[in-house]
Amino acid sequence: SKSEFIEDLLSKMTLDEKIGQLNLPTSGDITTGQANSSNVAKNIEEGKVGGLFNIKSASKIREVQKIAVEKSRLKIPLLFGMDVIHGYETTFPIPLGLSSTWNMPLIERSAQIAAKEASADGINWTFSPMVDISRDPRWGRVSEGSGEDAYLGSQIAKAMVNGYQGKDLSLNNTILACVKHFALYGAPEAGRDYNTVDMSHIRMYNEYFPPYKAAVDAGVGSVMASFNEIDGIPATGSKWLMTDVLRKQWKFNGFVVTDYTGIPEMTDHGMGDLQTVSALALNAGIEMDMVGEGFLSTLKKSVNEGKVTVQQIDNATRLILNAKYDLGLFEDPYRYCDLKRNKTDIFTQAHRSEARKTAAESFVLLKNEKGILPLKKSGTIAVIGPLGNNSLNMPGTWSVATKHESAVSLTKGMQEILGKSAKVIYAKGSNLVADAAYEERATMFGKTLNRDNRTKEELLNEALQVAAQADVIVAAIGESSEMSGESSSRTELGIPDVQKELLDALLKTGKPVVLVLFTGRPLVMVEENQKVSTILNVWFPGTEAGYAITDVLFGDENPSGKLTATFPRSVGQIPIFYNHKNTGRPLGNKEGKFEKFKTTYIDERNEPLYPFGYGLSYTSFSYSNLKISNSKLNPNGKIIASVEVTNTGNYDGKEVVQLYIRDLVGSVTRPVKELKGFQKILLKKGEKQTVSFEITEEDLKFYNSDLEFVAEPGQFDVFIGTNSDTTEKVQFELVK
Ligand code: IFM
Repeated sequence: SKSEFIEDLLSKMTLDEKIGQLNLPTSGDITTGQANSSNVAKNIEEGKVGGLFNIKSASKIREVQKIAVEKSRLKIPLLFGMDVIHGYETTFPIPLGLSSTWNMPLIERSAQIAAKEASADGINWTFSPMVDISRDPRWGRVSEGSGEDAYLGSQIAKAMVNGYQGKDLSLNNTILACVKHFALYGAPEAGRDYNTVDMSHIRMYNEYFPPYKAAVDAGVGSVMASFNEIDGIPATGSKWLMTDVLRKQWKFNGFVVTDYTGIPEMTDHGMGDLQTVSALALNAGIEMDMVGEGFLSTLKKSVNEGKVTVQQIDNATRLILNAKYDLGLFEDPYRYCDLKRNKTDIFTQAHRSEARKTAAESFVLLKNEKGILPLKKSGTIAVIGPLGNNSLNMPGTWSVATKHESAVSLTKGMQEILGKSAKVIYAKGSNLVADAAYEERATMFGKTLNRDNRTKEELLNEALQVAAQADVIVAAIGESSEMSGESSSRTELGIPDVQKELLDALLKTGKPVVLVLFTGRPLVMVEENQKVSTILNVWFPGTEAGYAITDVLFGDENPSGKLTATFPRSVGQIPIFYNHKNTGRPLGNKEGKFEKFKTTYIDERNEPLYPFGYGLSYTSFSYSNLKISNSKLNPNGKIIASVEVTNTGNYDGKEVVQLYIRDLVGSVTRPVKELKGFQKILLKKGEKQTVSFEITEEDLKFYNSDLEFVAEPGQFDVFIGTNSDTTEKVQFELVK
């Protein structure tokens, strides 16, 4: 049996070999193909390595695995990890975009395809899903998560884990998932990456923990600790988090890995020297040390000094070996290095067309006031803007394995699809930002925007000449892919000034302008919202970007994405989110306008620019006949809330029907509304459908001030509508 096998192996291991299993270095010089002579190779041979990460290609990984299973004393195979975050070579939209599809089967399928491709290339472990709730778009990593809502985030966490791990982890096309970053990494003070997190436990449990727990409930095999501190203790050293919450309360039985140098970083946090913080991490419940080598270099000494026990090291080793066993690596260490599959299963046409469909479904139509969209496939279309003819930025942040050079730019996609039926012309119009040093910071890893050395005026003149020949202008502007993502926090959230000037000049031509917005985060764009009639937010769509955007712009696909993170009107409103509390002095007006001695600002409204759940379609939907099957809900019973949705426009289209509930009176204050269900439905033009949601006591539960998960009797409002702003409601009572 598995446990006999593992216990037998464990009994043969020296203390050094056990500690070696807990060590996860980067591939280092091994990636240069010098596997046999590198330091990492020497360490593998000596049994000092449990896994490696970010080596790309089945043949290289095979070569390294060979060292472990042929040259090390106990022949224990290695884990091979990678940041396979939103696809592998076939790259899907950034996670914030993926979440905007609100389409769980599609999201699960994207993870399944990522697993299929990665596993065909030697990878058996991905550092995904990233499920950090964030209400702060200053934080660059909002791009990597699923937005602000714990309920939606939990559904997505589950879909991703199921997609990666499948039903059987030992199959050669499924891989181990790693939910991250545990915990609360998305709530750093001032939105600055890696910064301190401080929040009440009741908020953690109700608003930030659920997606991590959902991943654990879905059977995720590993967890990554976050860099931030919580309650004054870095997560990597927090026994409360890693043992009490994760293992005791949530019954997690996989292993926990640090995020990169999370262990040595605790020295800078002020927790002591490397030996102290390494022991702290092990004692907290960390099993694997990524990059830091604190375990490797100090744990033996700590055993000798009585600071940690051999039993703790045994426990940690056991969990790593379990994962290797579950992946089937002991049976066949080369299971994920099938050189045949490697040629047939990666960046396939089938995968690319799924990525294209998914990307189209992730776009959010923010405005289409004059009905300019969809465009006609004729005449002359001018694509203007620094993101219009750029393939390198299309995959978006954290796309380690992507084929940047094969990613499809907007102009290329448009030209290919339109062929001879229309003319596509292009001008860059401006650089990304005026400041070259800023641009450099926003184009990491060589994902350059090819800074143009011409003056601003020269670039603008060329753009206006191109615009003059066009029937319609598609302004491709926004952020570069590396303006969001890790270590890309911003204090200003506007479209960069130089691009705003370009947009103004294009609008002045009087020609129809469609703003195609590239962004990794909610932006502050009140002015653009006023000036531009037509805005399509495409996030970073992945390798198939140009095709997917063209599909939507010209009506082959009808947009159906909905925002999963609120777009603020100003940076000063942050954190801004739909499921806030009411306060003792709520405003009396719905627009959030100023009222003296009420909770508001003297210089800004309370309302966001675009609320959570918002997104338009080329068609229109009307909601009517909101009903509840019974005005009383018994503890073990259920009631049905339903609404009729009609496609009242001229196109077939998909709509995300959203159910929100408000608990009117509680033992603790409750949010003004909380998402508790959603359904994405397809309605043909003119079609009507009754959409029903079952409500049970389980849906009404929350953590009270004793952190018990309870539903309290009383009145509840039920809202069903097209976004979180919906006000149509019915009421019921939970009786006990
Ligand atoms: O998985 C990532 C993590 O999200 C950020 N730090 C590095 C890790 C490994 O690349």
